[in-house]
Amino acid sequence: MHLFLVGAGPVGLVTAVGFARLGHRVTVADIDAARIAILADGRAPIFEPGLDEAIRAESAAGRLTFTTERVPPAGSAYSIVCVGTPTGPEGPLSTGQVEAAVRLLLEAAPPEHVVVVRSTLPVEGPDRLARLVEERRALGPCATVVTNPEFMREGAGLRDFDVPSRVVTGWLHPDDREVARAVADLYAPLNAPTLVADARSVALIKLASNVFLAGKIAFANELARVCDAVGADVDLVATGVGMDDRIGRAFLTAGPGIGGSCLPEQALALPQLSARLGVPTPLIDAVSRSNVSHQQAVVTRLASLLGRPITGARIALLGLAFKAGTDDVRESPALALARELRERGASVVGYDPQAMETACRADPWLETAPDAVEAARDAHAVLVATEWGAFREIAWPAVRRVMAGDLVYDTRNVVDATAVRAAGLRVEMLGRRV
Ligand SMILES: NC(=O)c1ccc[n+]([C@@H]2O[C@H](COP(=O)([O-])OP(=O)(O)OC[C@H]3O[C@@H](n4cnc5c(N)ncnc54)[C@H](O)[C@@H]3O)[C@@H](O)[C@H]2O)c1
Repeated sequence: MHLFLVGAGPVGLVTAVGFARLGHRVTVADIDAARIAILADGRAPIFEPGLDEAIRAESAAGRLTFTTERVPPAGSAYSIVCVGTPTGPEGPLSTGQVEAAVRLLLEAAPPEHVVVVRSTLPVEGPDRLARLVEERRALGPCATVVTNPEFMREGAGLRDFDVPSRVVTGWLHPDDREVARAVADLYAPLNAPTLVADARSVALIKLASNVFLAGKIAFANELARVCDAVGADVDLVATGVGMDDRIGRAFLTAGPGIGGSCLPEQALALPQLSARLGVPTPLIDAVSRSNVSHQQAVVTRLASLLGRPITGARIALLGLAFKAGTDDVRESPALALARELRERGASVVGYDPQAMETACRADPWLETAPDAVEAARDAHAVLVATEWGAFREIAWPAVRRVMAGDLVYDTRNVVDATAVRAAGLRVEMLGRRV
């Protein structure tokens, strides 16, 4: 089948590669001509494990092509919309990009065409899409619109496409139930559990999933601080708690905070929705606040371990991406820590194996160094904020020689504590005894 995919961000590219590997022909469109030029050259414009190779292979096989044209190619049956839903002036999950793309597709596509909105929608998003369909239908028969949220994790996107936890599709009008079912059938070779429902419930499934995951991380983060206070180990506690299959171990991992383009945004979007509706949701409201207070607590803990005033201290920040395996720094806890440190009068020099460019674009005040040892030069402390495997291999004796202080504070439990100590440095971990 020939599919048209609109929006070549992480979700669009993973989806395009995923469907191409299932044997479909996929034409990928983006308004960003520079991005399309990189893709047409057989390269990925973002870092995502395996994506570069997959784009090259699927392009060479003739299943993937790239364009800046924004109308579906003749003969394509589905348009899959993967444009962004960033925080806009009206708050989180702005649907401006989605509505613009869908409006254009409704104008250009024949009535038998199906527009699949894979972008994350706010709960009122389906009503906005239904209005666009009504407006277009007033002029004559038009394409059908259904929703199909994506649940992938950056850093494991390709695997998540191939082995999805579930496939969920939503209809805007009960008459379109069968179309939503046909969209779910596109994923049939993946043998995933499938749910077809009204698009409002589907939007809430996506939001609730992410807020629940954010809540699990926030819970683990708070638990880590309790562990620090009582001398317990948060990884052991989380493992013991997670052995209960009603709870589960996944996402019960403490770190420097919730990050990425999805979880923090949606942890704000759901409370704003309930506030607008006048529904008290104190538990849901607390997730975002917990994250902000956790990041402040991480910096307070670092300051208490420094052995000198934080004002005027120099901190080497290792890891800028919101997690390992990506160059995405959107809502990265590392950048939040950098801001908090600067507000308290410290200077920050950052290093990341993949995310230097994206971090410098996102935070123009960030000083950077070409590697971990250079970042540590004259630093009073090293703060590890992303769980890159490469941080296990840091040459700590070299770090020791260039540092002004002797503290390594690891919020990700990634460094080799024995090696750090052997180099004559102090090592502290968030919520963990070392
Ligand atoms: N990133 C994730 O891990 C993730 C996971 C699940 C769901 N989501 C959701 O999926 C959606 C896409 O996320 P992303 O991170 O890939 O977004 P992104 O913002 O990184 O990329 C979106 C792409 O769409 C392009 N675009 C915007 N308007 C366009 C238009 N009218 N026509 C063609 N191209 C257009 C942009 O140039 C950009 O390249 C969002 O709603 C997001 O919340 C993201």
